[in-house]
Amino acid sequence: MPALTNRGQLGALPRPTRLADESYLDFLESFRDVLLTRMFPAMAAAGHARMIAAGLPLDDDAVPLPAIQAEFARAPIVPTWQRFMRSQQEMMWRRTRASFAITGAAHLADLAAATSAGPGRLIEDPGFVVPDYARREIHLQPGGYTDDPLGGIVYHYGTKVFYQGGNDQDELHAELASLTTLPGDGRVAAVLDLGCSVGQGTLKLKARFPDAEIWGLDVGAPMVRYAHARAVQEQVPVNFIQALAEDMPFDDDHFDIVFAYILFHELPIAIIPKVLAEVHRVLRPGGTFVIFEFPSASQHLPPALRFMIDYDSRNNCEPYSPDFVHADFRSMLAAAGFAVSDGPASRNSFLQSIVATRP
Ligand SMILES: C[S@@+](CC[C@H](N)C(=O)[O-])C[C@H]1O[C@@H](n2cnc3c(N)ncnc32)[C@H](O)[C@@H]1O
Repeated sequence: MPALTNRGQLGALPRPTRLADESYLDFLESFRDVLLTRMFPAMAAAGHARMIAAGLPLDDDAVPLPAIQAEFARAPIVPTWQRFMRSQQEMMWRRTRASFAITGAAHLADLAAATSAGPGRLIEDPGFVVPDYARREIHLQPGGYTDDPLGGIVYHYGTKVFYQGGNDQDELHAELASLTTLPGDGRVAAVLDLGCSVGQGTLKLKARFPDAEIWGLDVGAPMVRYAHARAVQEQVPVNFIQALAEDMPFDDDHFDIVFAYILFHELPIAIIPKVLAEVHRVLRPGGTFVIFEFPSASQHLPPALRFMIDYDSRNNCEPYSPDFVHADFRSMLAAAGFAVSDGPASRNSFLQSIVATRP
């Protein structure tokens, strides 16, 4: 199996087609880092100061979002940050997509050649119909997860910028796999990575549970095709399938662990109970559902985060996240029949960590 691009790999990462693209995207990665780690705290402080001056409390979740937005809009740093966030995201996708498109035909030929290669399997159903809700251009990615044949490699390099270089070698996924809570009896024969995207977590779950049967499931064919090609390239025996989380082609009680990292805030709220029912069905009694996810209504969110999540939903195409962050996700898990407890915290303090056990 050749490298997935003409300039080879940066370890686990494909290199952009031209050095000029890589340099440009390195700049955007640093720029994003400044926006999130330097400018966002300054913006939050400015917005909070305006709220205090207007007599609005910072610790009361009942303060209406429009009141928060009105005060934040008075701080000049806020619209500047908003413009920068939107522009860096558009610039990132445009350059990443354009770079991999130069060698796109060769890359697609590599993906096609890998489809029937092992050691693991790739399962696609030619009659699979992608629901419209899953075809949104989430995060502004052209074609989203489902409609661009180059979407896998474009998404993968896009996440390098997204994580500001902190996940170039899937370090975050390795951490989350290491934090995965086992069933009480310790038996782990089969593990599912739900909403696996390009399989970064799937491969790390195999490293954590080398003797287990590992599956990655995603609605996006470009995602699972690229994930499978990576697994072939690295000769890791994991399986990928294009399917819906709310309608899984697995037997009852099949899995000991189902793992889901930042899936739920990208699902319409009406779909979530269906997904929870399916996970409950495919997990065996005593199995663990390990979730790392956006915050939801069971947690207090400071006004700056409420402001940011709302901005992100409208300007970074996260159409479903506002409903999720305002929903009581733990109660939804309990209603689906799970025993819900806190999971171990990861280094990403924004994420909530939940272990939902099937009794
Ligand atoms: C933010 S990404 C998840 C990231 C991924 N878990 C990781 O480890 O980096 C959300 C993924 O969920 C997938 N997805 C969305 N709706 C789905 C559904 N109904 N069934 C299966 N996958 C879905 C998307 O295609 C996308 O790849």
